[in-house]
Amino acid sequence: MKLSREELKGLMKNKLMQAGLHEGDAETTSEILTWAHERGYYSHGAVRVEYYSERIYKGGITTEPNIVWNQTGPCSGILDGDNGIGFTVAKMGMEKAIEMAKENGVAIVGMANLSHSGSIGYYTEMAAKEGLLAISFCQSDPMAVPYGGAEPYYGTNPISFAAPTADDRDVVFDMATTVQAWGKILDKRSKHQEIPADWAVDEDGAPVTDPNKVNALNPIAGAKGYGLMMMVDVFSGILLGVPFGGHVSSMYHDLSEGRRLGQMHIVIDPERFVGAEKFKETMSACIDEIGQIKPAPGFDKVNYPGERSVARMKKAYESGGIDVVDELVDYLKSDKIWIKSYDHLNRFAE
Ligand code: NAI
Repeated sequence: MKLSREELKGLMKNKLMQAGLHEGDAETTSEILTWAHERGYYSHGAVRVEYYSERIYKGGITTEPNIVWNQTGPCSGILDGDNGIGFTVAKMGMEKAIEMAKENGVAIVGMANLSHSGSIGYYTEMAAKEGLLAISFCQSDPMAVPYGGAEPYYGTNPISFAAPTADDRDVVFDMATTVQAWGKILDKRSKHQEIPADWAVDEDGAPVTDPNKVNALNPIAGAKGYGLMMMVDVFSGILLGVPFGGHVSSMYHDLSEGRRLGQMHIVIDPERFVGAEKFKETMSACIDEIGQIKPAPGFDKVNYPGERSVARMKKAYESGGIDVVDELVDYLKSDKIWIKSYDHLNRFAE
């Protein structure tokens, strides 16, 4: 079914409020979920509402959190989210970081004790829209093997970078550090198709092509992706004093408990380096040049990071709205907080 932006956002906001979230938090959360969904990050869009709603209802997301800002230096601080809804905490953290970077040139803001904050490109794009550069990374629950290991230890620990240009084409790079999300394995299972051998491993840590035998996901690019996912955990976990690595809480076990996740935003004012205008103009020139590169066989064009997501969004709205599966719309319109309970499912929420 095709929905307008307002329809989808409104349905998600209502459901989150039905589950117990206050209006301001439901507004922020539904806005960021819509941002992801309309860009084609369906894994971090409307499909997540049921999980958040169940967790909110069961008390694992604090609806009246005591969020405390502790400025630890002119350019640094920690926002303690008190296990409030991750979207609000991560957005507040980026607002603080933007304010500090405008004042002092650079800001490093850690967020401790938050719940899942969705697509993290939303937060780095906030900085780009203010003419600043940003990096964000966060922890997620253990489901990937460290390179050479047979047991999961790290999460899909995403990283996002964003940079402004002299026009409205913000460059937003936003990725998980695993080759594929778990959702893609489920998709292959449902279609009875094999998966490429580099996606995942079985119980012995051996490459697996049968999606039913997957025990853990692989980091991107072997040891290099493993190094990245580890450093995400160092900066957004160990540095902030929240549970690290294999101690990070599961998304789907005991939805009445707070998750105590960590996230880190780093924001830089280009004015303190090459100069803001020069930076933005050079960025525009750079992505223009990239767009002129001769495409390889099978490609129409070389895209900059984030370009295809924005194009996908524009196309969806031009063709009558964003696609949302009917079942999901039925759930959002129903009076049920959740239909299929996620509580106590295994780490992959099967
Ligand atoms: P993806 O694989 O769809 O895209 C990764 C990046 O590559 C994007 O920046 C995209 O713009 C760029 N890209 C893709 N194809 C391209 C092409 N042909 N040319 C140029 N650039 C291209 O993203 P992934 O890894 O599946 O992540 C999806 C979302 O999941 C992200 O928003 C991420 O933040 C979120 N996530 C959140 C987690 C959490 O715990 N909060 C955990 C893991 C992921």
